[in-house]
Amino acid sequence: MIEDLQVKVVPYTKTEDNKILQQIIKSLPYKQGPSNIRAHATDWDILFDYPQVQSLLNFVNDQIRNNLLRSYSIEKDDISCPEVWGVNYNKGDQTTAHSHSPSLFSFVYYVNVPDKSSPLHFNYSKETIEPQEGDCVIFDAALTHSVPVCECDDRCVVSGNFVWNKKGTGTY
Ligand SMILES: [Fe+2]
Repeated sequence: MIEDLQVKVVPYTKTEDNKILQQIIKSLPYKQGPSNIRAHATDWDILFDYPQVQSLLNFVNDQIRNNLLRSYSIEKDDISCPEVWGVNYNKGDQTTAHSHSPSLFSFVYYVNVPDKSSPLHFNYSKETIEPQEGDCVIFDAALTHSVPVCECDDRCVVSGNFVWNKKGTGTY
């Protein structure tokens, strides 16, 4: 059973890594092709090799297994992150409403949060998360969410999706 909370905020403060992460994201080319993101977004497969991102993915994997899915006995390799991307929002940028189905869980890690940074908004529950630098928001990937128009420069995040790897669990 998934814990009652569909949106979980957990601190993951790697301050020394955040400036490097933001520099990496800003230096990478814009993602090509359609997206709900109207901001500088990287492609989904370009961040995996960076050690700062690997540490973050290990942290999120642990959170999902040990907290969100703690009533299951699942191994680290039972879930995986096939997509991770970075976004740097400047004034006027936004992300329109969307979900990450059919992934299992998604996350947003707040790399840089200047004053007047836009929140993360969940469109049906009306829940609004005011981001803090170093926080990681993990949520049910089916939840529709958006980022309202940003009123500052350099709001920076790393996001990703986790999926369930097994075709069958043998339990029913
Ligand atoms: Fe999203």
